[in-house]
Amino acid sequence: MSEELIIAAGDKKAKYESLIPQVKALLDGETNRIAKMANLVACLKQTFDFFWVGFYQVVEDELVLAPFQGPVACMRIRRGKGVCGTSWHERRTLVVPDVDLFPGHIACSSASRSEIVVPVYDGQELIAVLDVDSDTLNTFDEIDAYYLEELVKLI
Ligand code: SME
Repeated sequence: MSEELIIAAGDKKAKYESLIPQVKALLDGETNRIAKMANLVACLKQTFDFFWVGFYQVVEDELVLAPFQGPVACMRIRRGKGVCGTSWHERRTLVVPDVDLFPGHIACSSASRSEIVVPVYDGQELIAVLDVDSDTLNTFDEIDAYYLEELVKLI
């Protein structure tokens, strides 16, 4: 693809549907995982203008901050802690409609109100999580879960 990202008109499903082939083309042939994460995060920020979107990579027994766009964030998260550490521990996508109601939520920013965290696998191995934060309640649903899970397979 060209360097220009085309953002589809319509609802978020239409935007994700248009984004997937573009991200595939953009990342095709690249082997460096950090480079791929960086551009996927940029595509998501540009398309949806999420408040915060980024990766945490599994490094030994912690999650460590990786490419992201948005305000500065906590750099290390323990397994089982917060939404990210829980998604890692339970190996599943977590949709959190109201972060104040998630026990142990880690508030990197007080403006964050809802969140989705999606695990990233290399084969069976969970290698990272994608975290997306919104400054409004109830932003994410099963549509985001489905498409974000598809998108992280491209990493
Ligand atoms: N809220 C996350 C921490 C990461 S920041 O939102 C960027 C959590 O509870 O795991």
